[in-house]
Formats: sequence, C-alpha cells, structure tokens
Amino acid sequence: MQMLRSIWGNMFADRWYSCFKSGPKFYVNTAIGCLLCKIMPGKAKLIKERYYLSDGPYGFIDTCIRAAACREFRNASEQEIKKETREFWVREYGEEWHEKKFERFEGSCNSGEFIATRKPLEDQINSLVHTNPDKFQSICEIGTGHGLFLKRLSEEVDLPGYFVGLDLSEGQIRTNQERYKDSRLIFLNEDVTGWIDRQGKPGCIFVTFGVFTCFTQRELEDLLAHVKAKMHPAAFAIVETTKCDLANQPDSSLMNGKRVFAHNYPHLFARAGYAVFEKKIELVNPDVRNYYNVTMLATTG
Ligand SMILES: C[S@@+](CC[C@H](N)C(=O)[O-])C[C@H]1O[C@@H](n2cnc3c(N)ncnc32)[C@H](O)[C@@H]1O
Repeated sequence: MQMLRSIWGNMFADRWYSCFKSGPKFYVNTAIGCLLCKIMPGKAKLIKERYYLSDGPYGFIDTCIRAAACREFRNASEQEIKKETREFWVREYGEEWHEKKFERFEGSCNSGEFIATRKPLEDQINSLVHTNPDKFQSICEIGTGHGLFLKRLSEEVDLPGYFVGLDLSEGQIRTNQERYKDSRLIFLNEDVTGWIDRQGKPGCIFVTFGVFTCFTQRELEDLLAHVKAKMHPAAFAIVETTKCDLANQPDSSLMNGKRVFAHNYPHLFARAGYAVFEKKIELVNPDVRNYYNVTMLATTG
C-alpha cells in the first residue's frame, strides 16, 4: 500500500490534479453513488435531504451517495441549486441543524471555538463604530440561526438601534422569539432581500457567519448592489470560509466535493464598489491549498 502511495505521489499525482479537481477515489465513489441512487432511491433521497445535517464519519454507502449528490448539485441550474439549498433551511432540518449548534455552544459563548471564530469580527465592528460615531445605528444578522452571536453582539457593541436576526427557518425563529423574549433582540422569519425592501434604512451593519456559502454568486452580487443603492451608509461584517485562489480566481465556484459555494469575498465586495475597512484572512488548514477563513468588514463607501 505504502509503495503504491509513493508511486502515485511521485509519478501521477501532479499530472492527475492538473486535469481533475478531486482525487480518483472521489470519481469512483461518485460513479458507485449514482448507481446506488437508482438501486436504493428512498435511502438516497433521505441522505440528500439531510445532507448538511450529517457530520460524518460516513459509511461506504453514505460516502458514495453524498458524492453523487455533489455531482447532481454541480450539474444543476442556478435556480435548482437555490431551491434545494433553501428547502433544507426552510424545512424541519434547518431547525434541527441550529438546535444541535445551540446545544454545543450555549454554555460556552465566551470561550473556546465560539469566541475564537467570532471575536475578531466583533473587534472589527467595534472599531468601525468607534471611528465613525453616529454613522451606524443597527445590526441585522442574516441567517441568525440559534441567535447566540446576535445576543453577544447586542451586549458587546454599543449601538442605539435595533439588533434584528433574520432566518429562513420559521421553526427556529419561533424558538428564538420565545427564548430571547426578555431581550432587546428581534427575530424575523424573512429573506434578507424582502426585509431590505420592507424596512431597510441607512446606518445598518449586516452580519453573517457561514451564510454566504449558501448564496450563488449572482445572489450575493445582487444583495451587495441592493444594499449599496438603498441603504448607504451601510456595512457588511462577515466570517465566511472559502476555497479559492484569492489572487487569481475572481469568480465563485462550488466548494470541492460539497454542496456550498466558494466566493472570492475581497474581490466581489471591491467589484461591487465597497471599501474594505478591515480584513483578516487565515488558512483553515495549511495542508489544503487556498482554503481560507475570511473575517472582513466592508462599507458601502
Ligand atoms: C449555515 S447556516 C448558519 C447559521 C448561523 N449563522 C450559525 O453560525 O450557526 C445558514 C443560515 O442562513 C440562512 N439563510 C440563507 N439564505 C438566507 C437569506 N436569503 N435570508 C435570510 N437567511 C438566509 C439559512 O436559513 C440558515 O439558517
């Protein structure tokens, strides 16, 4: 086995990866997965529907069907992709996903992973608010999920306006409305574009944590343009992972082997006429090329 690996590494790997994005195992799994989808359609449907909920490790059948699901996603039209992603969050699965995270983070919102990944953004927001007194009044978290980050921001960022959390999951929003009923937080089951049309006003800082990976490039570009046209001055404060060559790949692609998108955030924001106020770009895993965590705050200018 060791010998085979070293022959592969020395002789074929470079040539293979110059033609293909994923390793040969992925393509074999995909082919078997497509066959399994035909043989066991019920199981395949469930695995696809619950795609984002399962963290692995996966058995052989699950791995292959998940690979086939990624292939379907890659071949789908933009409208189909949008519909499928939304369906996951709107259905009961969305709430199940958020409640799992709530249980994981509820007791540790001031320590560990929760704070390590969010505090840099919180610092950027505070820095923006302090250097621009009176310019920003409110925070709107797109895809607020369990609402724990919005709660923390309402305690750590000194703004006079509203702290509103939007999410496509009706069940989760109902849970949040009950859970945080004694706070100043507002939770709405609403798509961000609809909310902007209904009550978007200047002075808002939009926050996202792991949300734009669900947006197609066009959806993200439309949102940036809409906010700039309708809500200036406004800002976006984001923590998003991406897998792309930030220097040379301006357009978005599907994240390798996953049903989510990889965007070149600094580029897309600059192209939409936004000014980057602060950014921190870190490698998620030094062994994986171009895999970044982007913590960035950009304003409408
Ligand atoms: C991966 S979850 C992240 C949730 C949360 N930010 C967290 O860190 O746990 C993405 C969330 O974005 C929400 N979402 C996706 N598109 C949206 C849109 N256009 N407007 C509002 N929420 C959206 C989904 O409902 C989902 O709850």
